[in-house]
Amino acid sequence: MSDALFPTYAPAPMTIVSGHGCTLVDDEGREYLDFIAGIAVCALGHAHPAITAAIEEQARRLVHASNLYSHEPAGALARALTTRSGMARAFFCNSGTEANEAAIKLARKWAFRRDDLRRTTILACTGSFHGRTLGALAATDNARYREGFAPLPGGFAFARFNVVEDLAAKVDERVAAVIIEPVQGESGVHPADVVFLRGARRLCDERGALLVFDEIQCGMGRCGPLFAFEHYGVRPDVVTMAKALANGLPIGAMLANERAATAFAPGDHGSTFGGSPVPAAAALAHLRVRDELDLERRVAERSEQLFAALRRLHQKHANVLGEPRGLGLLAGVPVSDAFDAKALQAAVRDRGLLVGVAGGNALRFAPPLIISEREVERAIEVLDGALQSP
Ligand SMILES: Cc1ncc(COP(=O)(O)O)c(C=O)c1O
Repeated sequence: MSDALFPTYAPAPMTIVSGHGCTLVDDEGREYLDFIAGIAVCALGHAHPAITAAIEEQARRLVHASNLYSHEPAGALARALTTRSGMARAFFCNSGTEANEAAIKLARKWAFRRDDLRRTTILACTGSFHGRTLGALAATDNARYREGFAPLPGGFAFARFNVVEDLAAKVDERVAAVIIEPVQGESGVHPADVVFLRGARRLCDERGALLVFDEIQCGMGRCGPLFAFEHYGVRPDVVTMAKALANGLPIGAMLANERAATAFAPGDHGSTFGGSPVPAAAALAHLRVRDELDLERRVAERSEQLFAALRRLHQKHANVLGEPRGLGLLAGVPVSDAFDAKALQAAVRDRGLLVGVAGGNALRFAPPLIISEREVERAIEVLDGALQSP
């Protein structure tokens, strides 16, 4: 890694120069089967021709105009996302953490507009990850990420993930919004129980708070349907997206239903690059290709294959691998305390397979959603091989 960069990341010891499909290539020409996809970003894989064409075409026409003027890609993307989600309005930004900042601000402004001035608390869940800016970090339950950054903004509290009773005890007249990841990714891949999400919906309705789903990692088809909330059949008031939205270009989005969206008026929030034409064009191409490839069905098929294979590996190597958990093509496999997930990650990388590590000691799998049956088989063979001769 260049010593001119801040040492905030600890990248693997190779330099990636290109990618195609589910494969990444390093500067020595070595190919890697990519089962992390830029951390759940490259849903259509690398160098997808439709994404490249959309970027090229839009870059020739207009790269930036600011939000002082309307432009077609942002408007078209807002229409596409609101139609598909059943939400009323979209706000665009550049990353996941900014999408959550927008949601936090929207919730507080929503209460403010109703003269409900006590209602300022954002209630997040234990194990949550919502981003690295100060507001999103204040909603993130990870001591390591928070350490040294005090004082974080006030008005944040936590309820136990998947424990409805704890939510019931904590959603009171001071709570503006409850924010939940339908599948927690960074904590090691933990899906919410449907009763928990239903309970959150009911409590927010009864007690006058907004329900926000952070689908930054688990949305955009990673769990099968475009939105993870469709899988659960529980509709939030606000949903945040980023990561895979433009298949690798920086963009974030906050979608809100009619009730919540009325809180923002001109000047209430903004972003110079938010909804920029090139990422918006790439996101529109992503949505189109998703439909053409019937990715929802493909994710269901590959998910079944991946989880069945991971369960078999767990049975075969029970001393190392725990039971897989997750949804769609977002899978986490805990590694037993006697073994190091990072060492296992390095061992499979040496054999040409890229996986993630999350939540301390779990392997995380988030391949491109276009992954083939053969590529899933290959990933499992590599993992099996690494476990047999560590
Ligand atoms: C659930 C969730 N929310 C928010 C974020 C923050 O997104 P970004 O890194 O684009 O700011 C992430 C990133 O991993 C995430 O997984």
